[in-house]
Amino acid sequence: MTHVAVIGSGTMGNGIAHVFAQHGFSVALIDINQPALDKALGTIARNLDRQVSKGTLSETDKTDTLGRIQTYTSIAEGVQGVQLVVEAATENVDLKLQIFRDLDQHAPQEAILASNTSSISITKIAAATKRPAQVIGMHFMNPVPVMKLVEVIRGYATSDAVTEQVMDLSRQLSKTPTEVNDYPGFVANRILMPMINEAIISLFEGVAGVEEIDTVMKLGMAHPMGPLQLADFIGLDVCLAILRVLHDGLGNPKYAPCPLLVNMVMAGRLGVKSGEGFYQYT
Ligand code: CAA
Repeated sequence: MTHVAVIGSGTMGNGIAHVFAQHGFSVALIDINQPALDKALGTIARNLDRQVSKGTLSETDKTDTLGRIQTYTSIAEGVQGVQLVVEAATENVDLKLQIFRDLDQHAPQEAILASNTSSISITKIAAATKRPAQVIGMHFMNPVPVMKLVEVIRGYATSDAVTEQVMDLSRQLSKTPTEVNDYPGFVANRILMPMINEAIISLFEGVAGVEEIDTVMKLGMAHPMGPLQLADFIGLDVCLAILRVLHDGLGNPKYAPCPLLVNMVMAGRLGVKSGEGFYQYT
């Protein structure tokens, strides 16, 4: 594979485009408007600068990486000639289904269609296309240039050959792929979100304060961030949406989102992106 498209230029999409381009792939980065794409290119340039200042990337490699990214505001144009598409649009099921219908129509017949979804069913997304054997989950972690994992999710109909290709491809990006099956939350969020929810319940029930809970988990368990800071970093709306997928999909009351999380999301306290969550970011 040499030519890929990335749909969505937000935090995950620009990180995914960054990593593919840095590893020699030609990348079509697609979003609905040019200002969003220009902002993403600025973010990628700044993140490449971090690597240059650390001495892990040369100035020439930075320029070459940026030179491999072309931007498009049309799916039909951006996916011409690609071998793989990674969709990283907003976590909205109807939007994703529409994007996959469009991709199925416009991407080359042999192209693999991957989704970076954190919790929407790959099987459901695949069923919106006429090529379900070529649809798969490629779940990158934030920040994409730093985190080593790609959770590779096999939908009900994903073929062995496509799974192997995506595992190999992830290794070419210097990532460690892990194959999992398509059940609610996959593995990453099935385990992470109940931990975050339990941290919020501990706060809600007055067991300890925000900093105390995070300090216990950071210093006691060597987590790089405490669960409440991590929830702010992921976005409290995203955490709530994933917990609802677990709760609805697995039917077990243990996944019920903490009422404090529900209230914070209703109040617009979404974490880093809104300037306030469990911590202040101003
Ligand atoms: N691009 C490139 N490099 C980056 C970067 C980016 N976007 N962000 C950070 N870095 C680099 C820094 O330059 C630095 O490099 P060196 O180690 O070479 O010095 C390194 O990453 C560490 O960064 P910082 O020193 O700025 O800060 P830190 O030590 O606090 O680390 C962190 C930041 C990597 C985010 C760390 O706090 C961490 O690992 N946090 C947990 C992240 C996590 O759990 N992510 C998963 C979230 S869940 C998810 O994504 C999936 C989902 O479905 C919800």
